[in-house]
Amino acid sequence: MVMQMKAFSLLLLCFDILTFSPLSLATPSSDSNNAYGDDSGYRSCRVSPKGHDLVPPRREVYDEGRIFDITHTFSEDMPSSFDTSRGVGQFLWLPSSMKNGSLANMSEMKLPVHTGTHVDAPGHFFDHYFDAGFDVDSLDLAVLNGPALLVDVPRDKNITADVMKSLNIPRGVRRVLFRTLNTDRRLMWKEFDSSFVGFMKDGAKWLVENTDIKLVGIDYISVAAYDDLIPSHLVFLEGREIIIVEGLKLDDIKPGIYYVHCLPLRLRGAEGSPIRCILIK
Ligand SMILES: *[C@@H]1O[C@H](CO)[C@@H](O)[C@H](O)[C@H]1NC(C)=O
Ligand SMILES: *[C@@H]1O[C@H](CO)[C@@H](O)[C@H](O)[C@H]1NC(C)=O
Ligand SMILES: *[C@@H]1O[C@H](CO)[C@@H](O)[C@H](O)[C@H]1NC(C)=O
Repeated sequence: MVMQMKAFSLLLLCFDILTFSPLSLATPSSDSNNAYGDDSGYRSCRVSPKGHDLVPPRREVYDEGRIFDITHTFSEDMPSSFDTSRGVGQFLWLPSSMKNGSLANMSEMKLPVHTGTHVDAPGHFFDHYFDAGFDVDSLDLAVLNGPALLVDVPRDKNITADVMKSLNIPRGVRRVLFRTLNTDRRLMWKEFDSSFVGFMKDGAKWLVENTDIKLVGIDYISVAAYDDLIPSHLVFLEGREIIIVEGLKLDDIKPGIYYVHCLPLRLRGAEGSPIRCILIK
């Protein structure tokens, strides 16, 4: 009991420092240090009783193969926008650092909301939905969380109506994560490449009309193939029932049924958000 109290008060102390110290928060500037450079790592609290040999755990799989992280780590090189081959660039800064006399380290980030593993809200492609407030805060957590099917799609085609038909996804399946050639080509680790696999308009239409799928997950930053970029997004988002999660990391996971858990940030007014997704066996 005494030990527990001690640990608890240590925790509180950390919390106090992080929350209430009068840290000056500067805006990100290009000359400040990158917060995840050489000394990237474990942001433990200074008052931690074990202060030595801290090696941060980095995992893709947790609990002996029960939990899979299907979220990509943010990196400066990851593909960002469709118009440039440049990556995301620096998105994390450390305006307050203990090395420079602050009481705590406090990073700041600046990131396009459609970067990495992220979710699209209806306002992404429909201006009247945007104006009406159909942002990521309005997305249904019951769609983003629940039983999900991970399927492999044929590697030689984009996702057309014929491909959708051939997958034979039974009625009643509400969440599907589509693994494609994008995963094999490791496209999320490369500069933007418009030859990624995605839904063609007729494939999206077929899904809407012939399945009960409400969560559509894909392994690149767009659910729609480049040639049908706008039409496929429109087909999915128009009904405001289907949620699109893009940029999933689906490597080395057996196809089959899992529980998916996806949680976007509560960004009021944003038509997209980075999202943390995991699969549980
Ligand atoms: C600390 O301050 C120095 C001098 O202003 C600056 O060059 C350095 O980047 C700062 N370091 C961090 C981690 O902010
Ligand atoms: C605080 O940031 C510095 C970089 O300025 C880093 O070396 C150090 O490990 C960080 N400390 C904690 C407690 O995270
Ligand atoms: C998918 O479509 C893109 C254009 O949107 C094309 O470049 C690519 O080759 C197609 N992929 C396959 C496997 O057919």
